[in-house]
Amino acid sequence: MVNPSDTPPDPYAFPKDYTSDPVTTPYAGKKRVANAVCVVTGATGGIGAATVVRLAEEGAKGVVVVDLDQAKCDSFVEKLQQSKTCGQTQFLARAADVTKEEDIEGIFKAAMDKWGKVDVAVANAGTGTALRGITEETVENMEKINRVNSIGVFLTIKHAAKVMRPDPKVPGTASIIVISSTTGLFPAPLLYPYSTSKWAARGLGLSSAAELGPRGIRVNNVHPGGTMTPLLRGGFSTETLERIRKSYPLRRLANPVEIANTILFLASDESSFVTGATLEVSGGACM
Ligand SMILES: NC(=O)c1ccc[n+]([C@@H]2O[C@H](COP(=O)([O-])OP(=O)(O)OC[C@H]3O[C@@H](n4cnc5c(N)ncnc54)[C@H](O)[C@@H]3O)[C@@H](O)[C@H]2O)c1
Repeated sequence: MVNPSDTPPDPYAFPKDYTSDPVTTPYAGKKRVANAVCVVTGATGGIGAATVVRLAEEGAKGVVVVDLDQAKCDSFVEKLQQSKTCGQTQFLARAADVTKEEDIEGIFKAAMDKWGKVDVAVANAGTGTALRGITEETVENMEKINRVNSIGVFLTIKHAAKVMRPDPKVPGTASIIVISSTTGLFPAPLLYPYSTSKWAARGLGLSSAAELGPRGIRVNNVHPGGTMTPLLRGGFSTETLERIRKSYPLRRLANPVEIANTILFLASDESSFVTGATLEVSGGACM
């Protein structure tokens, strides 16, 4: 005789807390990333800082603020701790270079030592380059940009995947978000180093989503269009920014918080069935 407790769980069953009651869901009244421990690289820059703030506003338990300069990380964390809306979250300020494996290993270890888990990793650190035709572009520049924007993403995914232990009973608890670019979706002449690094980041996100899915780890790619951050302001003239803005159907560039809100969705269990996505946030640039 078969004992019902010996029957393996039906993998196609809805989660236990699924409700057909049309007036409530398991998400009612819940902060969107309540209790999550998050690591954000490039966290004192435009999109990174907005992401840290949104994760904290939506109930993250802890956020590791990772960037190149310790003093910048410290002063950002100090501000966050004084904020009324972010002050409930604990922060760790860590200087790290995403191109150095020992640094990346160290930030995930620091998170594990402090909180015993990592739920969300945002591979956001990135750097840009001047516009240059292919006959002028150099191997040195190709290597430099690709090292940060693709090797950095590789190391972040690798070490996040090493420590993440999602609870298989709770869908959507482990999420890695890769920040690529619209230049990782369509041709970007004059931006060879940047564009190749962003196509590589996209490939890393998609391949690791396929590998890590069975372990319950989701990996998704965000492809921002022009977003008003130090990277964009420093890289392009006002005339070029105007030209980019006018080419978008929404006729404007993004505020960093608009990219952060997309990252927040992918970090939260609201996106629990989303993995391997190519999420373009660009005012319609790639239509
Ligand atoms: N701003 C845009 O228009 C735009 C568009 C598409 C994609 N992106 C991507 O979004 C991400 C964030 O860019 P942003 O616009 O906020 O730029 P930003 O310059 O404001 O922030 C980038 C951050 O990454 C950090 N960083 C750079 N190299 C690093 C390294 N080796 N190790 C650790 N940190 C490092 C910088 O110190 C900086 O704080 C980048 O990956 C960028 O390529 C930006």
